[in-house]
Amino acid sequence: MSESHAEWKWVPAATEIAREAGARLREFFAAGVETEYKGDVDLVTVADRTVEKLIRMRLGERFAGHGVYGEEGTREGLEREYRWYVDPLDGTTNFAHGFPQFCVSLGLERRPAGLMADEDGEMVAGVIYDPMRDELFCAERGRGAELNGKKISVSRTEMLAESLVATGFPSRKRHASPNIHFYQEFTLRSHGVRRAGSAALDLAYVAAGRLEAFWEFNLNPWDTAAGFLLVEEAGGKVTDFFGRRFRLDSREVLASNGRIHGELVGLFEDMFAGRELTPIPSAREFAEQRAARAAEQAAGKAAGR
Ligand code: IPD
Ligand code: CA
Ligand code: CA
Repeated sequence: MSESHAEWKWVPAATEIAREAGARLREFFAAGVETEYKGDVDLVTVADRTVEKLIRMRLGERFAGHGVYGEEGTREGLEREYRWYVDPLDGTTNFAHGFPQFCVSLGLERRPAGLMADEDGEMVAGVIYDPMRDELFCAERGRGAELNGKKISVSRTEMLAESLVATGFPSRKRHASPNIHFYQEFTLRSHGVRRAGSAALDLAYVAAGRLEAFWEFNLNPWDTAAGFLLVEEAGGKVTDFFGRRFRLDSREVLASNGRIHGELVGLFEDMFAGRELTPIPSAREFAEQRAARAAEQAAGKAAGR
């Protein structure tokens, strides 16, 4: 594995931090951890908190003067020019169930002086580390994206019908999300929809060409910051559901290889406009059809057919 990155500015240290954090996650995973609830089905474990503390400490050592915004509550130096978005454990539900799909995500934003609090700066670096597969995805603005030291780029697929896509579902206010309708329609129009439980890895997979697209409602900046840059640097496109510029707090993300982006935005437009989409039987209609077929077969048997 070549991870020299001699010319890179932020990635070398961020990589070391993500690897150390990932090693801690691996230890917690092997030992097993108790699960607590933050709300509804929003889980948190000692691993989330311990690893955020570790990352915060290491960022302070390596990047003194940078701000940190972490999922588990870190809010430090948010007025500074550089800000790290930290998800110490993306995929907590998987982690808590022993399902080995989770990662560490670190994204660095540059916020020039004078920017309003609700305005985005520019993402300049991103590192996503999957400790179970030892896969390290990284990107820096203008330097491309890599997986374990090798350049990655988005896939060349031109049509949704030939695409593998991914989504996720929120763990808060689940009943307010319409995403299951989108899940259905994408399933019928593509090679399939994966719902693997780590938004940051889903974005990294779009960057690596393993998925053609990923969308989700209600994500937070720590879920998307690093993956957003990875996808862009790998040649893909990231917007909101209307095809407008993606913003870190826009809460909706639509990422793709770029080639199928127009088709995806069109599908979102149709769905939001309530246009007639691919019909499938309801569970009740299906049960009625099944009962009718069984009755027909029984009648056939009785008649000796
Ligand atoms: C979650 C994961 C999941 C996504 C949820 C996120 P967490 O992050 O990224 O894939 O569907 O919306 O909240 O809570 O495991 O860090
Ligand atoms: Ca997350
Ligand atoms: Ca998390």
